[in-house]
Amino acid sequence: MDDQTKLREFEARILNGELIEPKDWMPERYRKQLIRMISQHAHSEVIGMLPEGNWITRAPNLRRKISLLAKVQDEAGHGLYLYSAAETLGADRNSLINQLLDGLAKYSSIFNYPTLTWADIGIIGWFVDGAAIVNQTMLAKCSYGPYARANLRICKEENFHKKQGYEIIVTLAQGTEEQRKMAQDSVNRWWWPTLMMFGPPDGQSPNSEELMRWKIKLYSNDELRQRFIDLTIPQAKAVNLNIPDPDLRFNEKSGNWETGSIDWDEFFRVIKGYGPMNRQRIEARRNADKNGQWVRAAADAWAEKQRLKPNEMAGS
Ligand code: 3HC
Repeated sequence: MDDQTKLREFEARILNGELIEPKDWMPERYRKQLIRMISQHAHSEVIGMLPEGNWITRAPNLRRKISLLAKVQDEAGHGLYLYSAAETLGADRNSLINQLLDGLAKYSSIFNYPTLTWADIGIIGWFVDGAAIVNQTMLAKCSYGPYARANLRICKEENFHKKQGYEIIVTLAQGTEEQRKMAQDSVNRWWWPTLMMFGPPDGQSPNSEELMRWKIKLYSNDELRQRFIDLTIPQAKAVNLNIPDPDLRFNEKSGNWETGSIDWDEFFRVIKGYGPMNRQRIEARRNADKNGQWVRAAADAWAEKQRLKPNEMAGS
């Protein structure tokens, strides 16, 4: 069968709602796009541990500390599911990680902002995990089996992350004047960067058309951003926190909340490496890689010993 016929059959399967599995024929471009997206997603989960990890030792009480620890560990697990999903496409995990350490790979813009107060931990759960759920619930229905299944597991855990984050914010919003102010300040700093997480607007998103044709993405960046906005505004109103947007208004006709314009210059600056924390994030990963070297060496030595054992036994 020639490649044109294979491509037609591949696209017909996708149109038919079938899942593509690792050993199925797929166009090289589909493979490349998935490796790009899944590896960026994996890196985001791993880098995403840093801003929250910053508060584990300063969590205000034992209960908060336990749930934050569990959340950060979940993010590490998400990174692992995703690197495994990328490996099913023939990607080499070490090369992907090296691209991140060399500053050549992208990861989510949102993790280049600092966590200045405890309220930021609540906001990351409510806004950032909330945005991730909107995006990844759709990715759980994407056309590539291993990525869809990884997202299904991830979303189950993200739901818990969002709840613990919103609960932190509700507690602060109903607390002392100082706590309320802390929650509002956090909303003010994280609202716009969270909207940027969904990626550039539809007209400036070079990958969307291809990804949507192959049902890797089911909705555009703007559609998912709008869904997040519509879900989140009522939650902010419920706790009397203000969204920092003087142009925010409800459009009765469309049933959507309309926002003012997003500062896309800031977004592009951040993804090019010039956000407030880009340098520190990569440096922290490089240190973790260096400090974990002995663990990997010990694990490799143990695996090698297990591999040799049957021969040793045969010789004894
Ligand atoms: N941060 C960094 N880079 C971004 C970005 C963001 N928020 N949004 C878009 N970009 C990059 C794209 O990667 C692309 O760069 P590339 O072509 O060099 O790879 C470029 O900007 C143009 O954007 P497109 O819209 O054309 O890119 P996509 O069609 O791939 O859409 C996306 C971007 C919506 C982020 C999509 O890739 C996606 O859904 N990815 C999977 C999910 C993911 O990675 N989420 C990250 C957050 S994970 C997380 O939040 C962890 C949780 O614990 C909270």
